[in-house]
Amino acid sequence: MKVGILGSGVVGQTLAGGFLKHGHEVMIGTRSPETLAEWSVAAGENADVGTVAGAASYGDILVLAVKGTAAMETLRSAGVDNLEGKTVIDATNPIADAPPENGVLKFFTSLDQSLMEQLQSAFPDAHFVKAFNSIGNALMVNPDLGGTRPTMFICGNDVGAKREVSEILDLFGFEVEDMGGAQAARAIEPLCILWCIPGFLHNRWTHAFKLLKG
Ligand SMILES: NC(=O)c1ccc[n+]([C@@H]2O[C@H](COP(=O)([O-])OP(=O)(O)OC[C@H]3O[C@@H](n4cnc5c(N)ncnc54)[C@H](OP(=O)(O)O)[C@@H]3O)[C@@H](O)[C@H]2O)c1
Repeated sequence: MKVGILGSGVVGQTLAGGFLKHGHEVMIGTRSPETLAEWSVAAGENADVGTVAGAASYGDILVLAVKGTAAMETLRSAGVDNLEGKTVIDATNPIADAPPENGVLKFFTSLDQSLMEQLQSAFPDAHFVKAFNSIGNALMVNPDLGGTRPTMFICGNDVGAKREVSEILDLFGFEVEDMGGAQAARAIEPLCILWCIPGFLHNRWTHAFKLLKG
């Protein structure tokens, strides 16, 4: 599978590494491809770097891994035709520029509308699936948590896209909980706020969510 990753930050590079590890081909799309020349060489022959539009066109499946405030602009640069009919794994969080308060992040969205719903409504022909937003980058690929598979909460409107992302998450070491349509991102995005609190307050960043079911 060819995976186009939009965003070259720690999440973009970590997920690119995960897809490469599992035998896929990857192109990272960034505003400044020249800064990733070293990464591209180190990552091997199945890895490439290009523009945002280049990676969006390359990928059979896409990953959105940019700063939340830049998500809409990045997808516009990707080009609407390059998104059409594709699964877009949305790892972003709508974190505001204001600093956290007592370890609690501030969002630029409300509880009545998530970032992913905004993206889905702006690009109706893309199939967004929220995933990877509420776990730290160090635990995104086959995390070692003493034999426990952590839960990844996902949501999205397209059943086929969610099936595709669930298979990827299984490969990456997660148990998947499908929370329904895009509206459920109103609940999944704020899990990032909760996940970050122990980090900001106690410098603990190595936990993950697990849904226990009776
Ligand atoms: N860090 C984590 O552990 C973690 C965990 C879960 C979810 N997330 C979410 O994943 C996303 C990526 O996180 P990150 O930590 O890798 O990086 P980040 O610092 O949140 O974002 C940096 C990325 O945003 C892109 N970007 C595009 N337009 C931008 C603009 N106008 N201003 C600033 N940046 C712009 C940059 O792309 P270029 O490549 O073009 O520079 C860069 O790759 C975020 O939405 C974050 O909330 C992060």
